[in-house]
This record gives sequence, structure tokens and C-alpha cells, in this order.
Amino acid sequence: MIIVTGGAGFIGANFIREWLKYENEAITTLDKLTYAGNMENLADVIDNPHHAFIHGDIADKKIVTKLIERCRPRAIINFAAETHVDRSIVEPTPFLKTNVEGTCTLLDAALAYWRQLSPSEQTNFRFIQISTDEVFGSLGKNDPSATEENPYLPNSPYAASKAAADHYVRAYHHTYGLPTIITHCTNNFGPYQFPEKLIPLMILNTLQDKPLPIYGDGQNIRNWLYVDDHCEALRLVLARGVASQVYNIAGEDSLTNIDLVKLLCAILDKKLARKTPSYNNIRFIEDRPGHDRRYSLDITKIKNELGWTPKGSFKEKLEKTIEWYLENERWLTHVQTGEYRQWIEKHYHS
Ligand code: NAD
Ligand code: DAU
Repeated sequence: MIIVTGGAGFIGANFIREWLKYENEAITTLDKLTYAGNMENLADVIDNPHHAFIHGDIADKKIVTKLIERCRPRAIINFAAETHVDRSIVEPTPFLKTNVEGTCTLLDAALAYWRQLSPSEQTNFRFIQISTDEVFGSLGKNDPSATEENPYLPNSPYAASKAAADHYVRAYHHTYGLPTIITHCTNNFGPYQFPEKLIPLMILNTLQDKPLPIYGDGQNIRNWLYVDDHCEALRLVLARGVASQVYNIAGEDSLTNIDLVKLLCAILDKKLARKTPSYNNIRFIEDRPGHDRRYSLDITKIKNELGWTPKGSFKEKLEKTIEWYLENERWLTHVQTGEYRQWIEKHYHS
């Protein structure tokens, strides 16, 4: 049995689906169901006998301790986080609460449980922290990609909270011997991503013929990774990753935001047989404060040590993603209207 936190969010939900497809082992999800947690992301796996969903906060010691004691997992994967950089700029405190305090609470409960295990169970146990490329800060155009050894230089409140969490995870290994692993990943895209993030927001706005807001000059560079590739890498890290180690996970493709949005518009225009190009709706707006210029990760270590590489071309994966949103307009509408909150309303407020 493994426990994942944040499983009703974008990457967590995709991970659970992949896990149930490829692994013959039970999985339990703990999720607070913030605005980013959506039970519709788990609709097709909620009745799977190998999956259980628990509603709760990773910062709630009682819930977390009880859950770990009851499930007796061989691994915990911590996806739960406040994840949106723009929100962290407007209101940093929830990021401190969940990303730092929540991670510490989870580490404490994991450590107490791990100390009761037999020596061989202790050796095999893993606490995997899902971190981000943003902890390494902004790279210049010609800087080499960041390796696992790069110094931490977080710039946004979001990045600072993820960096702090990483330091706690590392310290729990160094001080107490808890077998932890940290993974850093670049920008994910794919099904079930909340439409506040660049790709789903641009798809939604194009479908609704709304303006496409590009921050600053649109020349910021992000590296893009299809979510299934990320999930595959994480299953490999869990199976073969070495305790105490850090692994970078990234895609092959880096693009400026403007080039990405133009490509997305071109794909959508073709699929929707539009006569007027959607890129006419692009609007350059005020820049994000402290907007990091470029992220890029060196993935030599995971390639050499675990044999992982991302598959397929970015364009192919973007087309697949766009198709998913076109086929799942109901999911998008429910997010927009707030109907996706019905599950929580039904279970807690009726
Ligand atoms: P998301 O915002 O889509 O989902 C986050 C999930 O965590 C939601 O289901 C939410 O309800 C849950 N959650 C939030 N606070 C919680 C708490 N206190 N207790 C329990 N659950 C809580 O996020 P995502 O994009 O799926 O990201 C997952 C993880 O991957 C995060 O740790 C993020 O920092 C990291 N990451 C994301 C990306 C990316 O591009 N999306 C890239 C690198 C790393
Ligand atoms: O790099 C990994 C990170 O990727 C994760 O750790 C974060 O959780 C995840 O949210 C994501 O952060 P970004 O800030 O890179 O993603 P976002 O989709 O918000 O923005 C991507 C780029 O697009 C960024 O340079 C800002 C820009 N942007 C974004 C939005 C929402 C725009 O120009 N316009 C927009 O409307």
C-alpha cells in the first residue's frame, strides 16, 4: 500500500490513474480539496477497490497520524501543495501553511511510523517529495540547465515555500535517517489541469473567444513535460530511486510563452476549422512581479541511473492535451461554474 497526498489535483489524479493501470498495489489518497482539488478528476477511479479517498489536510497531525497508522504504507508521495505562483504573490500565507507546515507534519507522522518498522521495512520505506525546478531560481538565456547540485535561489513566495519544504525533507533524512527522495520537475501539462495555469487557460479562453493574456514580453522560457511522462518517472523513482537522493525530471522541449501560445492557437484553429486566427486575441499585459525568465533542468542523472527519458514530441503531446479538453468540455464547464464543488457540498453541507 502507498499513500499519495494531493491526489485530487492535476498531477496526483494522473498519477493515481497510471498507478492503478500499471501497478498491482493499493493506493490511498489524502486531499484537503482546496479550490484545486476536484473529485471529478477521480471520477473513474473512485470505485476502484485498489483505491481509497480520504478528505483531510496534510497539516492536520491527528488525521495524518491516524491515516498512516491505519494504512501502514511502504511509501508516501507528497503531491499536496498550493501550486499557483500568481496566487502566492497575492496571498503567501496558505503556501507557508500547506507547503511548509503541512510537509513537516507529514514528515513527523512518517518518521514516528517508520521508527516502528522492522529493519528491512525501514530500508525499503520511501518518503517522496514532489518539488519543482522553481527552487533553483531564474536562469539566463545561455546558462547551462540546473543540475541536482545547483544552489537554491527561490524567487516567488511559492518557490520559497517549496524550497523550505525540500530543506525539511533533506534534514529528516540527514538527522533521523528517514529514507527520503526529492524530485524536481519542470512545467507539466495534460488532462485535468486547473485552468488557471497557462496551457488550460489559453485553451479555455480560445474556445470562448476571450483575450489570451501574456505576461510581459512573452519571452519567458519554460520547459514542458507531459504529465504521463512525469508519472512514469515517479513510478521508476519509487521502484529504483536511492534514498537520500534528488532527481530532476524534465521534458526535451523548452519554449517561450509567446511561441507556445501561438502553436496552441494554430492547433486549435485547425481542429475547430476557424477562419479568423485565434492569435489575434493575444494581449500583452503587465508582467508577473518577479517573473522568472527561464527554467531548465539537466536530466542526465535520471537518464543514466534510472534509464528514464521523456517520450514523443511536444507538439504531439500538446495536440493530445487539446483533444482531451475538447472532449471534456463538461469538466471545464463544471470548473468554471463551480459545479465541481458539488461533491464536497453533498458530503459536508447537506
Ligand atoms: P494542483 O494545484 O493541481 O493540486 C494540488 C492538490 O493538493 C489539490 O488536490 C489540493 O486539494 C491538494 N491540497 C492542497 N493543500 C492541501 C493540504 N493542506 N492537504 C491536503 N491536500 C492539499 O497541483 P499539481 O499541479 O498537481 O502539483 C502537484 C505537486 O507537484 C505540487 O507539489 C507541485 O508543487 C508540484 N509540481 C507541479 C508542477 C506543475 O507543473 N504542475 C511542476 C513541478 C512540481
Ligand atoms: O516550473 C514548475 C512550476 O510550473 C510548478 O512548480 C508550479 O506549481 C506550476 O504552477 C508552474 O508554474 P509557472 O508559473 O511556470 O506556471 P503558469 O502556468 O502559471 O505560467 C507559465 C508561464 O506562462 C509563466 O512564465 C507565466 C506565463 N503566463 C501564465 C499565465 C497563467 C502568462 O503569460 N499568462 C497567464 O495568463
